[in-house]
Amino acid sequence: MKNRSLVSINDYSKAEIIKVLDLAEEFEKNPRQTILNGKVIASLFFEPSTRTRLSFESAVQQLGGSIVGFSSAATSSVQKGETLKDTILTVSNYSDLIVMRHNIDGSARYASEVASVPIINAGDGANQHPTQCLLDLYSIRKTQGTLDNLDIAFVGDLKYGRTVHSLTMALSLFNTRFHLVSPPELKLPSAVKRHIKEANLKYEQYTDFMDVIPACDIIYMTRIQRERFPDPLDYEKVKNAYILENAMLANSKENVKVLHPLPRVNEINEDVDSNPKAYYFQQALNGVFVRQALVASILGLV
Ligand code: CP
Repeated sequence: MKNRSLVSINDYSKAEIIKVLDLAEEFEKNPRQTILNGKVIASLFFEPSTRTRLSFESAVQQLGGSIVGFSSAATSSVQKGETLKDTILTVSNYSDLIVMRHNIDGSARYASEVASVPIINAGDGANQHPTQCLLDLYSIRKTQGTLDNLDIAFVGDLKYGRTVHSLTMALSLFNTRFHLVSPPELKLPSAVKRHIKEANLKYEQYTDFMDVIPACDIIYMTRIQRERFPDPLDYEKVKNAYILENAMLANSKENVKVLHPLPRVNEINEDVDSNPKAYYFQQALNGVFVRQALVASILGLV
């Protein structure tokens, strides 16, 4: 992993994924260290973020590193017409590693091809969100004791949901049984389903949420992403498609956990929050340890 960019979760082998999760366990036991002393991480967010940006910044600062960057393209010279290439070439001069979020699919791959330092993709359009994927895997392993042979439901926007795309690809390495719940117009793209098929695994597609709940070990809720719809009227038709309420978990397995990459809008009712099966805020905390493991690995410090 040393000096390599992480653009897609497919950039890492199964062994490398497990290595990051194992390292994250060590950082969780001891998150405040000095191993990043003297290192500068650039955090370039061309698209809004709370968890990804702040957990990266917290992860780096807890390890003694420094952060430079911007939280919006509006405060950078992109506003004056600077290209992504020129931005990346410039910021490569100021940092040891660049964490970048951008609204265009493929922008992180492009940045990794022009940068002289490694790039970590913090989400590119509807394409990939590999660091979210790693913290999702960490959360699943931590709560289930394994990543193998689980029944996992993805619920909501499977078409535009980059976290779903990355996590589906990764879970195809672990004998997962996939339950794909979405409106017909937001089904998982064929290019992502191909990873399930190539692993000789099974998936079922549903439009009704209740049928799936009793079978699952993980219920992975997602937001219907208004900002990805070309036509706002299409968003209006599906925006309330799935709303998980506490009573709906009555017949769920004892071990089930509800995950969500967050932010949520209305797809998980707040009455779920106090149910021990709700895990989404702990999931967000796990992002700090996973991102510490990633940054330290890519900089060759562990
Ligand atoms: N999960 C996630 O990417 O959240 P943010 O958009 O707040 O970073």
